[in-house]
Amino acid sequence: MKLLLFDAKQYDKDYFDIYSENSEIEISYVDDKLTPETSYMAEGYDGVCVFVNDIVNSEVIDKLCEFGVKIIVLRCAGYNGVDIKYAKNKITVVRVPAYSPNSIAEISAGMMLCLTRKIPQAIEKTKKYNFSLEGLVGFDLVNKTAGVIGTGKIAQQFIKILVGIGMNVIAYDVFPNNDAARELGFKYVDLDTIYRESDIISLNCPLTKDNAHMINENSINKMKDGAIIINTARGGLIDTKALIKAIKSKKIYGAALDVYENEKNYFFNDCSKDGIDDEVLKELLQLENVIVFSHQAYLTKEALTSIAVVSINNIKSFLNGEFLKNEVFYDELQDKIVDFR
Ligand code: NAI
Repeated sequence: MKLLLFDAKQYDKDYFDIYSENSEIEISYVDDKLTPETSYMAEGYDGVCVFVNDIVNSEVIDKLCEFGVKIIVLRCAGYNGVDIKYAKNKITVVRVPAYSPNSIAEISAGMMLCLTRKIPQAIEKTKKYNFSLEGLVGFDLVNKTAGVIGTGKIAQQFIKILVGIGMNVIAYDVFPNNDAARELGFKYVDLDTIYRESDIISLNCPLTKDNAHMINENSINKMKDGAIIINTARGGLIDTKALIKAIKSKKIYGAALDVYENEKNYFFNDCSKDGIDDEVLKELLQLENVIVFSHQAYLTKEALTSIAVVSINNIKSFLNGEFLKNEVFYDELQDKIVDFR
């Protein structure tokens, strides 16, 4: 089994090499992302392994099939970059449904506290021997309301932290999980209530064609003045220009963003020498109460181990003709994409 792993970083190689050792899977690594332009690289391989910003559209799928590639191994949970409907009956798609939900939950808490307690500004000041407290007044979270959109694996870990802090948690999900609500102590409400009542809004749902730019001028106008938005899910959930406008006008206090709608051009790469051309991202980065991470929420030793182990096991199951519990596919009868959680 020859596998080509696209968009490879040293940390991918380190973990995939360890966990594919002594298996029948031979992995080659390329720095390039999989796109229509780079799909020719997959010739001669049986499978490709891709991450969050690779583009696996119909054109790429056709190319992969032409080369005899039989499996797309997503080493992430989100599959919005793959045309799953088009892949049906052409090529198998597997993913890693959960690699370390608490990694993302823990960093969400960290980002939230950075904003509410001005932690980056405090560090910056003391490094310059400025020990004054001017400009560092923050606010407590206890008894404030957090609104969580999407209540899956990551959100449930995050809710435990929020409840631990003493926050009141309300949530919205297209498929409410009432057992989780009871166990963790949160309440399901509709989206408008989330917008109206939340001091902190956390996005923890997948990006689909129905919820793209769900955070836009209209939904922001429904929000509490001074709310904070945390997005560790997908950048496309937020209309960034509308968010910038709302932060500038102080309607929104700030945002903690691990993802950005046009991240694929820059995230995961060191652009410090060449700079960036994206004026929206530039403006976002200049705002005081905005924290941007380059899609690093998952990046822990535990998550990287889990990604490599599950991806390799997905390939082994495929090779052995076993049931693929991590397959993602389009179901015509239900007219929807099916994944197993
Ligand atoms: P999950 O599949 O366990 O939970 C997602 C939840 O969102 C489900 O309960 C689902 O019913 C709900 N949902 C689906 N569409 C919705 C909608 N339109 N509105 C409200 N809820 C909706 O997923 P998990 O593992 O909790 O991950 C959530 C998202 O986080 C992923 O889709 C992915 O985009 C992102 N992610 C980001 C990472 C990072 O490093 N920043 C790492 C892993 C995931």
